[in-house]
Amino acid sequence: MSAEEYIIYTDGACSGNPGPGGWGAVILDGDSVQEISGSADETTNQRMELQAAVEALRHVPPGSKVKLYSDSAYLVNCFNEGWMKRWLSNGWQSSKGKKVENQDLWELLFELAEINRVEWIKVKGHADDRYNQCCDKLARGAINKSQNKGAGDENLSAEAEDTGKFKTKGGRKLRRIGLLTGGGDCPGLNAVIRAVVKGAGYNYDIESIGFNNGFKGLVENDAVVLDDYAVSGILTRGGTILGTSNRDNPFDFRPGGSDYQETGVDRSSDAVENLAKRNIEALVVIGGDGSLLLAHRFSKLGVPVIGIPKTIDNDLPATDITFGFDSAVTTATEAIDKIHTTAESHHRVMVVEVMGRHAGWIALQAGMAGGGDIILIPELPFKYSYVAEKITERRRRGKKFSIVVVAEGAYPAGEEPIYQQKGDVKRLGGIGTVVSREIEKLTGMESRATVLGHLQRGGSPTSYDRVLATRFGVKAVELFQKGHFNEMVCLKGNQVKSVDLEEAVQGTKRVDPDSELVRTALAVGTSFGHLL
Ligand code: F6P
Repeated sequence: MSAEEYIIYTDGACSGNPGPGGWGAVILDGDSVQEISGSADETTNQRMELQAAVEALRHVPPGSKVKLYSDSAYLVNCFNEGWMKRWLSNGWQSSKGKKVENQDLWELLFELAEINRVEWIKVKGHADDRYNQCCDKLARGAINKSQNKGAGDENLSAEAEDTGKFKTKGGRKLRRIGLLTGGGDCPGLNAVIRAVVKGAGYNYDIESIGFNNGFKGLVENDAVVLDDYAVSGILTRGGTILGTSNRDNPFDFRPGGSDYQETGVDRSSDAVENLAKRNIEALVVIGGDGSLLLAHRFSKLGVPVIGIPKTIDNDLPATDITFGFDSAVTTATEAIDKIHTTAESHHRVMVVEVMGRHAGWIALQAGMAGGGDIILIPELPFKYSYVAEKITERRRRGKKFSIVVVAEGAYPAGEEPIYQQKGDVKRLGGIGTVVSREIEKLTGMESRATVLGHLQRGGSPTSYDRVLATRFGVKAVELFQKGHFNEMVCLKGNQVKSVDLEEAVQGTKRVDPDSELVRTALAVGTSFGHLL
């Protein structure tokens, strides 16, 4: 979280109407949590709710971005439904024609809301929200103090008097877990974030701190507190609410985050320091091989880390499946289905290039699911003559179109994979167009190539990925709670387990040409452009 972003919780309380009242607020700015409170002798509950918001907003520098959580529907609705505009034009009349009370505080509040960017959010209330509960206690503590009754129960006094650090019920120090999403995004990242935050909060009262934009946020100390509300409604959303980056290596950090800068700086010590400053006990890294390798390097520096394997490529050896893979395969399959109908209409050979880096998992599974006639994967370097033969043989049997699914990392025997060069950076891609061109040359049939590209990384996760991501997130929290660090969660058979991170970052999982999956594809007549 940058210095100008705040999360504020407020609450008011009153013993009587009117009667002695109090207000309390918790202000989170990422690094620290500030608690403030105050009281009034003869007041009302509504005045105290408003006073809490006024005082809390006075504590943030003008121009701040604020998320303000309150259990007062009246307060939140006023801002979200534009009541003030109505009140100004109708002489402070409520919708029931009554005079709006507490005009002085409303005006102050509107002024403060205007100079800050405030998002008003309704919380359910004390039973459901830890921070709201704390505000309520602060407010009641303030009433008691003003009435010379002392601060009430022990827990309350511990919380009300501690202005530096938020403490959980019973005065225990708050535990914190850090998390970040690194590398290329994929469907299911938000589901994991949600599972970690909810799993940690509900079960162990552990607070989650999310670093923005992968390891960049860790180096630059850019983070947000993730509570129940921050992760509400994200289970089904693609992408990552934290942002990600596949180019910010803290050990070789390039200030502009650019691939094209020549020299990098080792900023790993800043990253370690930032974790310590925020009292984060362990870092959960949700990433593919690159991010997990970085996590492993941090573990060597003494940072307790926990890995969660993600990638659409499914190429991590220590887990049977990574989340994101099923969603990518589903998207690619839907695309192949659509390509099928146009191929049939035009009697064409349609080539579909899918992602997967140097592993053919997406091509194989989507190719099989979409009924691809030819599937080209990096594990089986192909020959154009075999590809053409299969198409010609199909035509002889009256099949006037063919579907070729090609993995971006596939290549003809004796040649190299095709890369696109951008500055110093090489990314796989382009084989689809080359295959399509060669097919036209060798068969005389019309061919078109479609590159699915980043479509495969976007959109909502499948139900399988949502469940797997949730299982992984909860398991990571369990590892944290047990103090099992420097491990990666994984799926073995149908069991979620964990493996040593050291082991998890070794090698690449690729398709075994002799596997049952490949043999099944062959058994239904699929060609791999290879003599198998
Ligand atoms: O690793 C995921 C992946 O989508 C690969 O399948 C693909 O080769 C690569 O990332 C693309 O990376 P970028 O998002 O940098 O183009």
